[in-house]
Amino acid sequence: MSGAAFETIAGLVRTRAGIVLGADKAYMLDTRLGGLMREHGLESLDAVAAKLRAPASERLAAAVTEALTTNESFFFRDGKPFDHLRRILPKLAVARSGGQRLRVLSAACSTGQEAYSIAMVVEGLGLAGRVEVLGTDLSTDVVRRAREGLYSQFEVQRGLPVQMLVKHFRQEGAQWRVSPAIRALARFETGNLLADLRSLGTFDVIFCRNVLIYFDAPTKTRVLSALAGRLAPDGVLYLGGAETVLGLTDRFATVEGERGVYAPVVRNLLAG
Ligand SMILES: C[S@@+](CC[C@H](N)C(=O)[O-])C[C@H]1O[C@@H](n2cnc3c(N)ncnc32)[C@H](O)[C@@H]1O
Repeated sequence: MSGAAFETIAGLVRTRAGIVLGADKAYMLDTRLGGLMREHGLESLDAVAAKLRAPASERLAAAVTEALTTNESFFFRDGKPFDHLRRILPKLAVARSGGQRLRVLSAACSTGQEAYSIAMVVEGLGLAGRVEVLGTDLSTDVVRRAREGLYSQFEVQRGLPVQMLVKHFRQEGAQWRVSPAIRALARFETGNLLADLRSLGTFDVIFCRNVLIYFDAPTKTRVLSALAGRLAPDGVLYLGGAETVLGLTDRFATVEGERGVYAPVVRNLLAG
């Protein structure tokens, strides 16, 4: 692959998704884009880049971007945020008088394990009627899978306690489908974190984990700022273990003793 072809493909993914592909990632383009190249009858990455530079390449551009996302996810990933959620949700439910529903966003939800883990916590707390979970991801393919709620044996063995598997999943051949009760708590939509997020409304809890790591600092700041605008003043933001707000935004503060948990900094308009 020529340097120009790499620049075209990396530039596309950065513009459309915020994902930074360093030159050290060039090796993965062949593997990740192999299927697409066959489907579009393109023989090389140079041919892919040439087609992307030509007019009317929107479908290919979207497919290339999706193919270059990393969709790794598993149930109850990192454990701790879900323990924190178990403690905070009942308090938020009390704080919302009049039966107002709590809204939880699983941003960059991939194949849905995070959103369904949240739904299982909600169900366990007896808050099923009070909470709605929205999962969004750039990739239409993972959103389709999340909606299906069908997981392989390998996927349900990653992070999901066996009692939860038995309680909340039904076996379908070699796979496991999330129960209708848990499925009904979560909704999935395609959505780009770089887009205007205002139409999503306001959330009480936002999970945005293991996606900022792919962005450069200005993009992380932009996304964190947009999320701050979507979070209730007493809400909670969860980031992934390798992610932070430090040095990126002053709109969130760390919560003492709680790794990966952030609280919005509420600006007092009367001050200064
Ligand atoms: C590694 S997965 C993280 C899944 C889940 N949040 C977790 O922590 O297990 C990253 C996801 O981010 C999505 N993604 C990447 N760039 C995005 C963007 N600009 N907007 C929305 N989703 C994006 C990818 O499609 C992928 O599914």
